[in-house]
Amino acid sequence: MNATTPSALLEATGTRAVLAQLDAELVGLAPVKGRIRDIAALLLIDKLRAEQGLQSTPPSLHMCFTGNPGTGKTTVALRMAEVLKQLGYVRKGHMVAVTRDDLVGQFIGHTAPKTREVIKKAMGGVLFIDEAYYLYKPENERDYGAESIEILLQVMENHRDDLVVILAGYRDRMDTFFGSNPGMASRIAHHIDFPDYSEAELMQIAELMLGQLNYRFDEQAVPAFGRYLNLRRQQPHFANARSIRNALDRIRLRHATRLFQADSALSKEQLTTLQAEDVLASRVFGRQETTA
Ligand SMILES: Nc1ncnc2c1ncn2[C@@H]1O[C@H](COP(=O)(O)OP(=O)(O)OP(=O)(O)O)[C@@H](O)[C@H]1O
Ligand SMILES: [Mg+2]
Repeated sequence: MNATTPSALLEATGTRAVLAQLDAELVGLAPVKGRIRDIAALLLIDKLRAEQGLQSTPPSLHMCFTGNPGTGKTTVALRMAEVLKQLGYVRKGHMVAVTRDDLVGQFIGHTAPKTREVIKKAMGGVLFIDEAYYLYKPENERDYGAESIEILLQVMENHRDDLVVILAGYRDRMDTFFGSNPGMASRIAHHIDFPDYSEAELMQIAELMLGQLNYRFDEQAVPAFGRYLNLRRQQPHFANARSIRNALDRIRLRHATRLFQADSALSKEQLTTLQAEDVLASRVFGRQETTA
């Protein structure tokens, strides 16, 4: 008789709560959320198998998150760390986020201690390596990045039940990196692609972020922000949700300036409501008119 149902275990481990939070906090990303649920299911079933005395080996969970800037890779990695903690896969569930400079030294003999130090900090949680392809510089014969990769590979194999490595970056560069680093490619069990957000999703993200900050768009501000999105998305350096957060910061600044200039008693309504003019003063509109 199996005493524990998967659903009871989801509840008891607190995994359901983390997954629900992921759902509520992140707009869209259905394929990403699906993959995380799959991984949670795998770990839960492994637990249930262990309870029944069946062979249970912790699966390898090193991952690669690919996608454009601001698509949610770092945020999802943080949540992933929590899920892994709830399911008892890692002890602590924290995340250490690094880039090449944190792992690789400038001089001979500096790289190994640097990499080992980072690994030590990340043990029991997730090591998130952003723009991981910079670890490998084939044009530079004596590059110390290779040394760091070697150490990472060993740890990914030997400590895989207490450290999850997540590599992140642009899809095409990650593919090239794996092409020249088969050892790394073979140790990554899960590849998760983060798509760019649609305009409708970006609007939802904006409204979610505003809600969290106790702001809202009034009726005219919504279509104004829609027009903003449409223009901003076509401009260089557009970084998905990150650009939305930055745009909202500037809109809040203009809102504050407007209220300040009025210099009257301010209602809660006024303090929370962003208007079309706060949006339309953006450079994005000016630029469009001069270039069109
Ligand atoms: N789907 C989403 N719903 C709501 N907010 C989101 C979503 N995706 C990202 N964000 C928010 O956008 C910001 C940028 O996200 P994050 O840093 O996770 O992106 P990233 O893919 O790691 O970007 P980068 O490649 O630039 O490091 C964060 O503030 C995050 O909370
Ligand atoms: Mg990031």
